Amino acid sequence: MVDYINSNIHTYIEELKDFLRIPSISTSEQYKNDMLRGADFVAGKLKDAGLKNVKVIKTPKHPLVYADWLNAPGKPTVLIYGHYDVQPVDPISLWDSLPFEPVIKNGKIYARGATDDKGQVYMHIKSVEAYLKTTGKLPLNVKFIIEGEEEVGSDSLENFINTNTKTLRSDAILISDTALYGPGIPTITYGLRGLAYLELQVTGPNRDLHSGTFGGTIANPINVLAEIISKLMNKNGHINIPGFYDDVVKVTKKEKENFKSLGFSEKKFAKEIGVKKLKGEKGYTTLERSWTRPTLDCNGINGGFTEEGAKTVLPSKAMAKISMRLVPNQDPNKIAKLFTKYIKNITPPTVSLKIKNLHGGYPFLTPLDDKAMVAGANAMTKAFGKKTVFMREGGSIPIVTVFTKKIKAPSVLMGLGLNTENLHSPNEHFDLNHFHLGILSSAYFLQEYAK
Ligand code: BES
Ligand code: MN
Ligand code: MN
Repeated sequence: MVDYINSNIHTYIEELKDFLRIPSISTSEQYKNDMLRGADFVAGKLKDAGLKNVKVIKTPKHPLVYADWLNAPGKPTVLIYGHYDVQPVDPISLWDSLPFEPVIKNGKIYARGATDDKGQVYMHIKSVEAYLKTTGKLPLNVKFIIEGEEEVGSDSLENFINTNTKTLRSDAILISDTALYGPGIPTITYGLRGLAYLELQVTGPNRDLHSGTFGGTIANPINVLAEIISKLMNKNGHINIPGFYDDVVKVTKKEKENFKSLGFSEKKFAKEIGVKKLKGEKGYTTLERSWTRPTLDCNGINGGFTEEGAKTVLPSKAMAKISMRLVPNQDPNKIAKLFTKYIKNITPPTVSLKIKNLHGGYPFLTPLDDKAMVAGANAMTKAFGKKTVFMREGGSIPIVTVFTKKIKAPSVLMGLGLNTENLHSPNEHFDLNHFHLGILSSAYFLQEYAK
């Protein structure tokens, strides 16, 4: 089987290119048909791989793809999850090649979705195919559920999990939608941050005004918004919202030691992202800040005159999008309420305020000693020929906690991406050596977990 994978890797890469040519952007109505094409592509490849019951399931937004192979009675069942939707491509001018015309440079494939998450989904389809083509069977039962709304909140999949829990019933969930600790380092991720994402709109006068005639007589919504934002966090990076930290689980000594053993270089990290100096909550290392502490960030801000030159105007409105990354055991709904209450408290009576709760997700943390986690670590160790490390992640995959609660099975995050592969930004790419090792890791996982 390993020989089969090794000798077919070039075909797999060509097929992955076809997958990457489909602009399956989930955020905009404009790509609805491409989303369908994305789902059909996944379904077609699952069928070719030898899976049964392949279905494209319609939803109010974007289709889900389901498939299974359940001919190993008495053996455990693994549910493989991933997403075929991708992020928008803007700003397109910063791409060196077109986002939906994949090119290979220095062993990396460049395209939107290469690492997040099409390349990683494809590894699992090919590992199952290699298994079935070489041995005629799998060592255990496998189900696939591949969604098209991960980047927009996974509403349809959440609904499907709640209403079709039995269909998805499994003993473990295998997910490749995270990163390796570093190039060539086999890694299992055991924690994710959650998310609360809100939008603030501040309105002053009923229309834009001359900044000479009216300047100094009313509150400027942009100034007010800036004032509000400045009150959200103090100098030490501590978030001022009352009750915000109440449910935060402290990082254990053992974890801190594990983080230390990873040999993280703050210098290299800063250099790679091009900042002069790092900044974060006082009293924590960069890894602790990213993996174990909640944050608050402005993701976008808008208001007034932003074109070339100077226009003397007082804007009627100003808007900001604010996200909070959450850690166990913070609850996104509770945090959104606390945030809203605090914002209302600090907003002056000179403006009116609208707050929209855009979306949320629960954080995730799982024990390392579960059978499925051990199988995942062993599988990667075998594929890479190196000992697997464990880490947490600052990003979010909200559906993981829904799986945990409903399916009541452990999720193994066996990600093969790298955080330097520009996910969500221009020139996204995926290391093809990791793609290859990911197919092997996936195949070994089925073997290891079947034991
Ligand atoms: N695959 C990412 C999550 C991720 C990010 C893993 C960074 C490892 C490193 C996922 O597709 C994603 O982008 N998640 C969103 C969730 C949001 C849209 C609800 C995120 O973290 O912003
Ligand atoms: Mn992803
Ligand atoms: Mn993403």
